[in-house]
Amino acid sequence: MQPQSSDSLVDIPILEDLDAPKQVSVTSDGKQQVYLETYGCQMNVSDSEIVAAVLRENGYGLTHDADAADVVLINTCAIRENAEQKVRRRLGELRAQKTKYNPDLKLGVLGCMAERLREKLLDQEKLVDLVVGPDAYRDLPNLLNEATDTGQAAVNVQLSKEETYQDIQPVRYDTNGVSAFVSIMRGCDNMCSFCVVPFTRGRERSRPVASILDECKTLVESGYKEVTVLGQNVNSYRDGQNGSTVDFAELLYRISLISPDLRIRYSTSHPKDCSEALLHVHAERDNVCNYIHLPVQHGNTDMLQRMRRTYSREQYLDLVERAKQIVPGISLSTDIIAGFCDETEEEHKDTLSLMELVRYDHAYMFMYSERPDTYAARKYEDNVPEEVKKRRLTEIIQLQSGISLESNRAEIGNEHVVLVEGTSRRSEEQMSGRTDSNKMAVFDRMDFEKGEYVRVKVTDCTSATLIAEPLGRA
Ligand code: SAH
Ligand code: SF4
Ligand code: F3S
Repeated sequence: MQPQSSDSLVDIPILEDLDAPKQVSVTSDGKQQVYLETYGCQMNVSDSEIVAAVLRENGYGLTHDADAADVVLINTCAIRENAEQKVRRRLGELRAQKTKYNPDLKLGVLGCMAERLREKLLDQEKLVDLVVGPDAYRDLPNLLNEATDTGQAAVNVQLSKEETYQDIQPVRYDTNGVSAFVSIMRGCDNMCSFCVVPFTRGRERSRPVASILDECKTLVESGYKEVTVLGQNVNSYRDGQNGSTVDFAELLYRISLISPDLRIRYSTSHPKDCSEALLHVHAERDNVCNYIHLPVQHGNTDMLQRMRRTYSREQYLDLVERAKQIVPGISLSTDIIAGFCDETEEEHKDTLSLMELVRYDHAYMFMYSERPDTYAARKYEDNVPEEVKKRRLTEIIQLQSGISLESNRAEIGNEHVVLVEGTSRRSEEQMSGRTDSNKMAVFDRMDFEKGEYVRVKVTDCTSATLIAEPLGRA
């Protein structure tokens, strides 16, 4: 998960691997082979698993080889201009291949760009055969038939107020078999002024508790050891069915009861409604990880107001203080935007000073990118010059990298329980996995296996990784 885009020099949060495509690696005996490539956030990765399930259910096979595919689907992201540029370049390549080698190939655009651009995609990206928005994946088999039968492009970008794909068992095609995403809600009602997500994903809706618990139980039975539950703002999760209301804290608590061996993480938590009850679930339940991704976006109250985040710098800092009191040792990460409309040098410095105060273990940092139709695009001017945005982002990144290094250095000598995810990227002789606090640790392979909990002692570090000595199975 180390995507590097021109506006983000570090890896991306809910947006893990924002720009690195993930590819299907399952094949079956379906009549037609589908190749699926995913850009964007964890929600998109999770959606692609639903797409894979819908298609497999309808007799399609899944292939990891784009050249062998009858259908190529690109699940896209619209969060920043450069995310869209990347997809456009990829579509250009695929179109060229289609024209040259395989005119019968069906090329489809799914996800947030499909929703944002709709029919415009058909004009702009000639030879696209399918345009399918995030709430229309059940319709994919029909749309594929329609495109084949008519030779015309098929489009469904209808957004829904109900669809949660609750009954679909995702096909986890790109899995390490240890950790999985579980989507608990869709859409977003927050309308932060910079953000395109409410337009691409529609109204917020929660998936019923029972279907979430069932999916988590099935994962445990299949040997999974970690779930990350997903929503654009998990704190506003509500399931009001069956007489009583279950909120996010209660949902997390119920998931934590499924198995003491199942670690639970979540993303993303909006600071405006991160409750004390939720912090107490972290404190009381050992298997709810000691880590919250709590995006602040900016350190200045006026800017937060322009961003429509509905909290002030002081309220955010109070929340962090409460979190640190209630959950001692809690690890925090954040998202930060540099160079939003009208940002002054003083306001930018407030972001730096907030980072010093909170001392995040990790941050995902971006340059503001204006998105059409958002409140900011309509009402404010994108008036911070590019070079100023870049310089401010660099200052933010440099500060964070120093803080991350210090935070990791402070771990030297400490013991942690790590869930082994596999061999390290650098060496087959090393295993890697995350601590409860979401820090990546590498240690000697010994005879440890993927999916085991191992107690380690930290001996050294970089700003991104803890280097550790294994002490034994935990
Ligand atoms: N729902 C999550 C965020 C999802 S988008 C939340 O509210 O925290 C992930 C991150 O992308 C955001 O937190 C924000 O930092 C960044 N982002 C969103 N729109 C952006 C834009 N127009 N330009 C730059 N960064 C943006
Ligand atoms: Fe975008 Fe704000 Fe919704 Fe997050 S909470 S997805 S930043 S509108
Ligand atoms: Fe995710 Fe990108 Fe859509 S961040 S919600 S895939 S715009």
